[in-house]
Amino acid sequence: MENMNMAQETASLRNAINENVWLHFYQMDRAQNAEMAPIMARGEGSKIWDTEGKEYIDALAGLFCVNVGYGRREIAEAMMAQLEQIHYVSTFSFPNVPGTVLSDRLAKLMPTGPDSRVFFVSGGSEAVESALKLAKSYHRRRGDNNRYKTISRRTAYHGTTMGALAVNGLTPIRNEFGPLVPGARHVPPPYQYRCQYCADQGACSLECADEVERLIEFEGPETVAAVIMEPVQNAGGAITASDAYYKKIRDLCDEHGILLIMDEVICGFGRLGSWFGADFYNVKPDIMTIAKGLTSAYAPLGAAVATAEVAEPFTGEGKDPFMHGITFGGHPVSCAAALANLDIMERENLVQRSADMGAYFKNKLEDSIGNHQNVGDIRGAGLFLGVELVKDQDTKEPITEENLVGWLSDELLRRGVICRADDRLEPVIQLSPPLNIPQEDIDYIVDTVSDVLDEMKKRN
Ligand SMILES: Cc1ncc(COP(=O)(O)O)c(C=O)c1O
Repeated sequence: MENMNMAQETASLRNAINENVWLHFYQMDRAQNAEMAPIMARGEGSKIWDTEGKEYIDALAGLFCVNVGYGRREIAEAMMAQLEQIHYVSTFSFPNVPGTVLSDRLAKLMPTGPDSRVFFVSGGSEAVESALKLAKSYHRRRGDNNRYKTISRRTAYHGTTMGALAVNGLTPIRNEFGPLVPGARHVPPPYQYRCQYCADQGACSLECADEVERLIEFEGPETVAAVIMEPVQNAGGAITASDAYYKKIRDLCDEHGILLIMDEVICGFGRLGSWFGADFYNVKPDIMTIAKGLTSAYAPLGAAVATAEVAEPFTGEGKDPFMHGITFGGHPVSCAAALANLDIMERENLVQRSADMGAYFKNKLEDSIGNHQNVGDIRGAGLFLGVELVKDQDTKEPITEENLVGWLSDELLRRGVICRADDRLEPVIQLSPPLNIPQEDIDYIVDTVSDVLDEMKKRN
């Protein structure tokens, strides 16, 4: 009887999916295929189950965000306790208790320093949007009125609102919406595997950082407000840089009075095996953007976090406020979720675990598929990994097969592994599970990726 009810319920959900649901960046025809668009119903640890009871390992942590894993009752209880006290306080008018405790805790944790100011919003795009506005406004407040340009990387993803979209380096998601916010300029990413300057040299020559310098000089340093970069770039597949690269970027910003924004929406909260990407690369940003792992996605929350120096023109004595705000920014229930999430991360030492299990995962991938003809590069840091696929490992010839990434995602999903096969640069399999993923789930993911790559090879 129960099975019958579940079947009826699933059928009625399918009808609504076919007619009313509008997923994001998603070709809605695909949702008509029930096997490829399962309706997700429950989660525990690093596993989730659909309405039919099929089990999946979530090798993507939702969308790079479920850092402490699914089913954490303690976060739900903290949210409930806050709901019972007061569910909403306007950030336009009053501080609230969990938001204040969280600001203090983040300031003590983040590389922007213990006197940082935390400007809460509701997600990553809003965090980036806020950081860009803050940078532009900061310069104006100091009488530096010509600084409106931004420098970001080609292929980088920074969100979808118009300001955040402008700093994106992904042509297909920018092109239908122009003109975008003026002044956004782009440089090549530090993409060592196929770098036009130093791919053959075995080590980064830092010429990609020299490109930033050339662009600043070309544009006129006095016109550039901010450089924004994601410590390890997700789009393109876990593109790592180096301490030397970020030192050069930091020095350039200091030399020319430009603010450095680190977009830590994915890298923050343990993803790389350090608390933040800025720690990982020993660089001190002027502004950091955070979201996703801040609450492990138990509730929507993001923030632009500024050093005291950047905040001073807005928060110092008698200063006019930052002319920006969002109704749900710093929602108390989300802040309560973030506090409980941080408790778990600290108690279970999940940042260190990300470093340890990330190393295990990467080694296991190298052992299992490192010699596969179609595997070009296995890269990343902590539990943020990418496997770049090629036609031939020796020549690095790219794979040009149409819709390869769609086929790969489907095959992995069929075998119960959720991850992302992406071709925003060359085709990559992106692996970014919850930080508490058990070792046996990592083993299963590696075996499954290996099987699917063998299957792929047979087709060619
Ligand atoms: C680096 C980075 N910045 C910003 C965003 C936008 O975040 P949101 O989707 O929460 O608006 C994302 C989302 O994936 C991201 O990866």
